Amino acid sequence: MLIAHLSDFHIAGGEKKAYGVVPSAENLASCIQHINQLHPKPDLVIITGDITCDGELDEAERAAAILEELQYPYYIVPGNHDDRDTLWSVFGERACPGESKNFINYVVDGYDLRLIGMDSSIPTAPGGEMCDRRIAWLEKQLAIKPTKPTIIFMHHPPANCGVLETDEDGFIGSDTLGNVVAQHTNIKAVLCGHIHTLTHQGWCGTVISTAPSMGLQLVLDLTLTHPSQFNLEAPGYLLHYFTPEKNLVSHSILVKDMDGPYPF
Ligand SMILES: [Fe+2]
Ligand SMILES: [Fe+2]
Repeated sequence: MLIAHLSDFHIAGGEKKAYGVVPSAENLASCIQHINQLHPKPDLVIITGDITCDGELDEAERAAAILEELQYPYYIVPGNHDDRDTLWSVFGERACPGESKNFINYVVDGYDLRLIGMDSSIPTAPGGEMCDRRIAWLEKQLAIKPTKPTIIFMHHPPANCGVLETDEDGFIGSDTLGNVVAQHTNIKAVLCGHIHTLTHQGWCGTVISTAPSMGLQLVLDLTLTHPSQFNLEAPGYLLHYFTPEKNLVSHSILVKDMDGPYPF
């Protein structure tokens, strides 16, 4: 099974660039073109939030129009820059097949991996949360197929990633979520976005991976002393390959012109 994993589009409204400088709509179109040309083809695409800059309807509609070009099913969870209800109104059951409008949580079955999309957003705050209701929902879903290889995907990584701003914003309920995850060895990964760079870290018996963004990539500052900044870079995405041996191998792809390939 092959999953393309996109994140953090930050699409602005109208013809605008994100934050006045990022051609995120064009970058998203480039990534979609790249994904459409992959061989073998992905089974589906997951999108881990921050679709929009400011949660506006026209931003979400602009993103949806670009995503129309994708040749595969795609699934979205909300980020802190999104408005949950607006995302639902634009993408609805097609890309957010959630059970309730309170949270965009859902399960995608029918593949070698079972995918659980979770809404980690807090409407009025930049940080993440897994409240008791969301945790209870997750436990119920995990109990249905306790041995099936499973991936959880959500916007906020539930652990610090060494990024000042997002570490400070935090994740409410990370310990409780970690306890649930630790009890389910079938969880192959927790796939996230939010921090605009590729990271992997071991966590509660699984791996948290974060995807790069649509061209506004984090300036790394492991001193944790400077306000978070981004560089304009090529857009990137992850390609998660679930092998016949049932291992999850994650490749990082940058979409840009390159010189090559050359033989080793
Ligand atoms: Fe973001
Ligand atoms: Fe975010």
